Amino acid sequence: MASSLILILFMASYFAYFTASTTSRSLFRSIEEEDLVSDTCKKTLYFQVCSSSLKSDPRSQTSDLQGLASISLNLSVTNGAEILSYISSLKSDKSVSGHLSDCADLYSDAVQNLEESVQSINDKSYDMVKSLVSAAMTDADTCEDGFKEIEGVDSPLTERNQYFNKLCSNSLAITTLLV
Ligand SMILES: *[C@@H]1O[C@H](CO)[C@@H](O)[C@H](O)[C@H]1NC(C)=O
Repeated sequence: MASSLILILFMASYFAYFTASTTSRSLFRSIEEEDLVSDTCKKTLYFQVCSSSLKSDPRSQTSDLQGLASISLNLSVTNGAEILSYISSLKSDKSVSGHLSDCADLYSDAVQNLEESVQSINDKSYDMVKSLVSAAMTDADTCEDGFKEIEGVDSPLTERNQYFNKLCSNSLAITTLLV
């Protein structure tokens, strides 16, 4: 009787210990992860965009700085590809169709550069990453500026161009932390 009571007490305390230690371990782990994403994003120009976009990818939870840079570039590629398909879905009149097709060319160039930058970051060729990402940002600016040449027409891509440039700017800032 006494021995089974001791056994039950032992099992109960073991269970309590086990539960508490796994809980605190996973709590500690999530605080640690939170910190790398937040600490990293604090060093970019667009903290909100940086942390919300990185957190949208579950791989960020287990990544080191190099991994975050790679995920950030991946997010830029994905966003560029989405803009490219948005551009081709736009119905346009003659006044803007030339500019839209310029933007489609520019974004397909940008997406290609960013895809290459994912390869370059894996090779730790950080200067190459920087020049590829900078070129992609210039493409988005050139797309946006094209619409300024037309009187009375607003760019249908302003918000998207700006968001894309914020993602790219964050990728550059994170890459710079690796050098
Ligand atoms: C981005 O990440 C996704 C998911 O892991 C992957 O399928 C895709 O190939 C990546 N894109 C690039 C350009 O690396």
